[in-house]
Order: sequence, then C-alpha cells, then structure tokens
Amino acid sequence: MTNHLAEVGRGSLRCSLCEEPAVTLVRYAKLRLCRKHFAEFVRRRVIKTIERYRLIKSGWKVLVAVSGGKDSSALLHILSEVSRQLNFEVVAVHIDLGIGEYSRKAREVVEKLCGILGVQLVVLDLKDLIGASLPELVTRSRRPACSVCGLVKRYLINSAALELGANAIALGHHMDDLLPYVVKNFITQDLGGIGKLGPGTESEEGLIGRVRPLYEISEREVALYAYVQGLPVVESSCPYTVRGGSIEEEVRRFLNSLEEGSPGIKIAFARALAKNLDFYKSRLLGQVGRCRYCGTPTSAEVCAFCRLTERGLGKPMGPAVRAKIREIVERGVKGFSKAVKNDRASSHKPGE
Ligand code: AMP
Ligand code: FES
Ligand code: ZN
Ligand code: ZN
Repeated sequence: MTNHLAEVGRGSLRCSLCEEPAVTLVRYAKLRLCRKHFAEFVRRRVIKTIERYRLIKSGWKVLVAVSGGKDSSALLHILSEVSRQLNFEVVAVHIDLGIGEYSRKAREVVEKLCGILGVQLVVLDLKDLIGASLPELVTRSRRPACSVCGLVKRYLINSAALELGANAIALGHHMDDLLPYVVKNFITQDLGGIGKLGPGTESEEGLIGRVRPLYEISEREVALYAYVQGLPVVESSCPYTVRGGSIEEEVRRFLNSLEEGSPGIKIAFARALAKNLDFYKSRLLGQVGRCRYCGTPTSAEVCAFCRLTERGLGKPMGPAVRAKIREIVERGVKGFSKAVKNDRASSHKPGE
C-alpha cells in the first residue's frame, strides 16, 4: 500500500472533501481522498454500477462468492454496506478446495469476515462433497489445475445459489481482471469469449446469473479499500498460480500505462464494451441441452462437471453433489438465525 501513500506525499496533503490526510489521489475524478471519503467514493461507484447495468433488483437475495482474497472480501464488505440502501439480502458462499495451508487460511479468513459482518456463510468443502480435494482431482483427471478449479467452483457456487433460491451470484472480478482478457480474446477473435466478460449475465433455468459489481473499480482501488477497512484477507496466493509471461499480464501493464497518460480510459473502455455486449454474446454457442445426469444446461450431452468427475473419479458426481449441497443449505439456514443474533450483539464492522 506504500505506493498509494507515496503518491499523495506521505500524508502531507489533505482530502479534497475534509481536513483529514489524503490516502490516495483518484486521478480520473481529480480528487484526493481520506480513508473515509475514499471508502464512500468506492461504495457510491458500486451503487452506480449496480444501477447503470441493472445488476441487482430490490428484494433480491444475492449470493456473494468469497475466496478470502482482497477482491471478493472487499466486494462482500461493500455489498453488505449498500444492501440496506438498495434493499437486497446478502448471503456468502466459500469453496474450500483442500489446497493445504492456503485453503485452511482462506476459509479461516472468510469465516472471520462473515462473523464480523453478520452475513450468513455457506462453506462447501470439496473433499466432503466428492471425496477428493482439488490436488487429488487434478492428479486423477490429468487436467490443468486452474481449469479444473474454475469448473468446480462454477458448478458448486451455482448449485448453492439454486438451493438457496438466490437471484444472482456476485463475483469479485474488477476492471483489471476483465479488460486484459477482452483484449486477448479480441486478438484471437474469440468474440463469444468477450461476451462473457461484461458486468453481468441473466439467469436462466438451472443457471443463476452472475454479476460483477466491481466492474468499474480498478485493482488498486479494491486493494486500497480492503486495506483502509482493515478487512481480514489471505495474503498468500494459490500455489498453482503461475506468475509472469502471460499475454493478460502484458496487456494489463499496457492498459495501466495508457491510464497514466489518459486517466479514465479504462472505465471508458469498460462502458463501451458493455454497450456492445449483446453483439459479442450472440457469438456464443447456446447451451441448448441439459446434462443427462444432473440436468444443468450444457451445449453437450453431459455437463463439464459430470464429465470431469466421471473421468477423474469414475462416476458423474453432479446429482450426489447437488443433494449434499441441499442438505448443507437446509442445515445452515436452520442454524443461522441464532448465530447471527449472537454475532450482531457483540460485533463491529472492521475499519470503524
Ligand atoms: P478467480 O476465478 O480465482 O479469479 O476468482 C473469481 C471470483 O470467483 C472471485 O472474485 C470470487 O468471487 C470467486 N471465487 C474464487 N475462489 C473462490 C472460492 N474458493 N470460494 C468462493 N468463491 C470464490
Ligand atoms: Fe484455483 Fe488456485 S485457487 S487453481
Ligand atoms: Zn475526507
Ligand atoms: Zn451434470
């Protein structure tokens, strides 16, 4: 976080809106902001994003997918703050992938954050659900870790959303996660792929829509928000993460250097993309059928999760997983009201 502080001159400059020392300079808005006004600025921008793209409607139940990293922890904090004003309900889900110490720490952090915020949390432990952790499934299916991981998370989070009766799944992707992939997909002319990188998708039968309320927030803004709010986050990154050398990373650096010279260009790019999203979506293959085993919409006969588990574990696990998640959700909902009462009575929000 030293970069943000160095940028405003070691606290010698004041906030543009009050007398407190500034913690950052928001160049595209020409504002220096203190901790409190920066947090308000981010929350207001998220509210505007939700309204601009009609991501969340009044009365909805929103399932926030929380990994323990700064992005989704900040998202959960922001949504739980703005949910009263916009009148929606927040529930959190965390997938424990069983990646050794990394997953233990991530789960601990998410449980702590949800306890502090008084948000209902559903934890889904992959090993309990399918009898194998992510590293075991990767070895047995002989597929790349990140693709197995992404596929498993999507399936489990969607199943939790279906069982909870959620209207939307909120993900912690921000502008700097999405825009580099837009450019990469443009280079390879994967236009359908660009169609998946917008601020949200609609729900359809069996698939709950995914929303990205941090669509117009940058990575450094998310990181600073988590820092000034003092949110518990897992600092280490997943051991499967490969750093350096990817096209996305190069594009990310390029977009950030453009932003230096033309503040606001990334937001302008994100907004322009959102306007043309229907065109890109029309290039996507429709999910015409339903999985033979679990009924999930799919473009093949069997969904990706049932195919993966059939290959790695000898049995399509979709139906069994759905049944277990239903049980967990029912148990969680019954046990929750008491836990929340106790928590709320003694808790305070981080950063206050
Ligand atoms: P990633 O696919 O790791 O870039 O993560 C994208 C988003 O998926 C995060 O911002 C979270 O909202 C969600 N997510 C990632 N990992 C988990 C997890 N273990 N449990 C719940 N949600 C997750
Ligand atoms: Fe998914 Fe690391 S968290 S591969
Ligand atoms: Zn201020
Ligand atoms: Zn299936």
